[in-house]
Amino acid sequence: MNFAPPRGMRDFYPDEMRVRNKIFSAWSESARRFGFQQYDAPVVETEELLTRKAGEEIVQQIYNFEDKSGRRLALRPEMTPSLARMVISKQRELVYPLKWTAIAQCFRYERMSKGRKREHFQWNMDIIGDENVMAEVEVLGAAITALEMMGLTADDYKVRVGSRALLAEIFDGMGLNTAHFMPVCMVLDKMGKITRDQMTEMLVSEGLNSSEILTVFELMAISSVDDAAAKVAADSKNIADLRDLFSMLADSGLADYLKFDISIIRGLSYYTGIVFEAFDTQNQFRAIFGGGRYDNLLSSLGGEKMPCVGLGFGDVVVRELLAARNKLKDTEAVDGFIIGYWSDNERSFATQIAAAIRQQGQRVDLALKAEKAKKLFSRGNKVRAAYAIYIGPDEVANGAFSVKNMQTRDSVDVTIDDIRNNKVIL
Ligand code: HAM
Repeated sequence: MNFAPPRGMRDFYPDEMRVRNKIFSAWSESARRFGFQQYDAPVVETEELLTRKAGEEIVQQIYNFEDKSGRRLALRPEMTPSLARMVISKQRELVYPLKWTAIAQCFRYERMSKGRKREHFQWNMDIIGDENVMAEVEVLGAAITALEMMGLTADDYKVRVGSRALLAEIFDGMGLNTAHFMPVCMVLDKMGKITRDQMTEMLVSEGLNSSEILTVFELMAISSVDDAAAKVAADSKNIADLRDLFSMLADSGLADYLKFDISIIRGLSYYTGIVFEAFDTQNQFRAIFGGGRYDNLLSSLGGEKMPCVGLGFGDVVVRELLAARNKLKDTEAVDGFIIGYWSDNERSFATQIAAAIRQQGQRVDLALKAEKAKKLFSRGNKVRAAYAIYIGPDEVANGAFSVKNMQTRDSVDVTIDDIRNNKVIL
């Protein structure tokens, strides 16, 4: 019997769980501050909902199975199709825009690498029913705020912003054949990861001639919104949207986090407009989060067409980044009390003390049986108690006991009444 979880799946022992809670708390608190409402959906969906015909990697990676009645089901690899299904099934009743958030466990049969597991928790933030670029501003603002709460700043990562719609417009503007759009996107996606010669090879194999390839390299050299604006009509809405996005994120004090990057196109087929991905500045890890506008997903699944923007932010990469940047110290913080006693004669007094402290809202780990003081203190360190109380016959006789600070070893003498009457600051 092997006691490890299945390959790519994770156990969360208490130390790991504290880190997970730090990440989840930042996600939830940021979602709350940005006015998002929580929703949830089942981890198991019909295979049909999750399968698209666009040849995406994510679809190849689906964990699928047949249930006992022969239904084709699957573990969700992402939350977006479930969200779309929920919206479509009440599309006429819901009041728009929806700002919805979830922390969803997702499963993908991935080739395992740094930052990629076969199961991860993904924070989802989506705004449904608004075509305004303010929607992009709000989801990005929330993601950056969550990272700020975890202790990461603009020195640690940047959000790279591109636009599929702008790219198509530039493509047209530069006289490239639209039949080459998808192959060029694939090459753009590899920019920085493969050599120029390898990119040329890819383009040749897709049937581009040498002058077209030169144009593609010219397109790849675009490094700012101004550069991009020079390639399209002066009244381009895609350029205006990008300028708006950067200016409103500057109004939110977040300008330092952003960078225009023509090569960001994202691997999922449903994105239609602005797309973005966040990467650590040392390029050590895969994307921290990613998302964008997807205005056709609802209609492609049989709903009414409706503009949507959203992002997915996994727990795996950010956890590695937090560890690498030494930002997990706070998960080792001490908290609350451990209470022990010498024999069963002291158990009743110890239980009354525990009840009084719990009444004050504090965490108390009350010993389940009598033990020596030394053992209690060593257990207290393991469970990260801030204070220890040990009850012996003298404490019971005097009705008083000392509260020992586990870190400084200082102690104060108190009674249960002191605690009940708030005379001691716990
Ligand atoms: P995605 O880029 O496939 O987008 O995933 C979003 C994030 O989830 C990634 O940036 C990464 O943090 C995390 N992630 C994905 N796969 C794995 C994995 N195998 N192991 C660890 N972490 C992973 C989506 O899923 C879109 N549905 C996001 C979205 C929501 N777009 C609009 N709304």
